[in-house]
Formats: sequence, C-alpha cells, structure tokens
Amino acid sequence: MSEIIIKSQEQIAGIRQSSKLAGQCLVMIEEFVKEGANTGFLNDKIEEFIRDNGAIPATVGYNGYPKATCISLNEVVCHGIPSSKQVLKEGDILNIDVTTILNGYFGDTSRMYSVGQISGKAERIVKTAKHCLDLGIQQVKPGNYLGNIGFVIGRYAKSKKYSVVYEFCGHGIGLEFHEAPQVDHIARKNSGPILQPGMTFTIEPMINEGRASTRVDKSDGWTARTSDGKLSAQFEHTILVTPDGYEVLTDVIGEYN
Ligand code: MF3
Ligand code: CO
Ligand code: CO
Repeated sequence: MSEIIIKSQEQIAGIRQSSKLAGQCLVMIEEFVKEGANTGFLNDKIEEFIRDNGAIPATVGYNGYPKATCISLNEVVCHGIPSSKQVLKEGDILNIDVTTILNGYFGDTSRMYSVGQISGKAERIVKTAKHCLDLGIQQVKPGNYLGNIGFVIGRYAKSKKYSVVYEFCGHGIGLEFHEAPQVDHIARKNSGPILQPGMTFTIEPMINEGRASTRVDKSDGWTARTSDGKLSAQFEHTILVTPDGYEVLTDVIGEYN
C-alpha cells in the first residue's frame, strides 16, 4: 500500500467540513428510522440532504456500488444495499453508513439504530460495538502504534464473548475514500505504523455475536452477512490525529470533543 498522507491545515479544514456533513446525515435521519419505513426511502433522504448541502455521496458508482448509503440490518455485517422493498420491523437493529465528498474531501461515519423494542441480545451487541469504537479512539495519540487500536478492541470484544470481523477494516481517508493505512480491528499490541499528527483515518469495528467470518451475497455482490446468521453491529468515525491526541471529525453531537 502507498504512504500514509499527513494532511496540511487546509486539507484538515476541508476533511473536517465534509466529516461534519456526514455526521449530520446520521442525526437528520434518526426520526425517520421506524417500523414500516423502507431502507430505500432512508437512503434517498440522506442523498437529498447530502446534495442540498453541496456535496456528493462517495459510494454511488464506487466499484459499481449503486446507492448513496449502506444500510445493514441484523445479521448483515456491512455493505447492505438500501431498497424500497426492505421494510423495517420492530426489533430490527441496523447500521447506516454515509460517506460524503465535499469540495473534494471525504468524511465517513456510521452508527446503529434500533426499531421499537429490541431484544436484550441486540441491545448488548450494539452497546459493545459502540464501546469498542470508543476504546479504539482512546488509543489515538502521536507516538502510539496504530495496532493498539485493534488490540484494545479485540481484547474487549473477546472479554464479552463476541468476535471481531477481520475481513473488513478501517482505512485512511480524506483526499480519497480509502487511503493507507488499513486499520485492523483486531491486532497485536504495539504493531503497525506509529501515529503522527495530521493523519486521518476511520475506526469502524464490526462485532459479531457468533463467528467472525462473513459471506457476501452472490445475488448482489455486496451484502456481507455473518456466515452463521447471527447478529452483527458496527459504529464508525473519521478521526484526526492531533498534536495531543485526537479529534473525532464526524462527531457532531459533541460526544468526544
Ligand atoms: N463506507 C464504507 C466504509 O466505511 C464503505 C462503503 S463502500 C460501498 O468504508 F461501496 F460499499 F459503498
Ligand atoms: Co469507512
Ligand atoms: Co463507512
């Protein structure tokens, strides 16, 4: 893979703006995520919001992907394709993943939503996936190893008897959709490159109830499901390494900064 790009102040400002818009999509859509809504409608709402804000969705046409978002329900790990035929029902958990391009800069974020009352096991995996992301973010500071993100995520998930998806990873982002480095969500302690101010990348752990392995649907070439049909959950933020730690660029609710 190519070198990790250290972003300039100007580039950081652009990535910050794009990331903020991606984060705002996830807030905007919340009121529409309810029983009876279809995922095609949720996708179209987000696409409209992105375009109304002068940006474009990065996923449309990306390696042939057809939609502005990925919406992944229940046992779908990632890359679920929204559809007007897919209707939300009580008890569903879903991830909505949005990547924006604003003035040429990329921002990428996703979170889980629930539909009505969800089961205890669904609640538990969602909470665990969120905590995995938070633990990963806490490792972001200059001088630390990138691998320590995956190390703490893997250790925590394992302690809760969950598995960590290794077939899909986080990634550098900003000037391109997927840049170096690859951000593994399960890794050895003190492995990989050393973090430096100006790096921007995603952390996006996918946590499974059962086995870690996934299978992509033959019918569409995208939808990745758990191979055992058990639940999966994911949260994603775009992170900047700052001189004294991190800035969560896609955090628009002020949870981290
Ligand atoms: N947003 C996803 C990520 O976090 C990538 C989606 S690529 C697509 O990296 F083609 F499936 F949309
Ligand atoms: Co991503
Ligand atoms: Co994403």
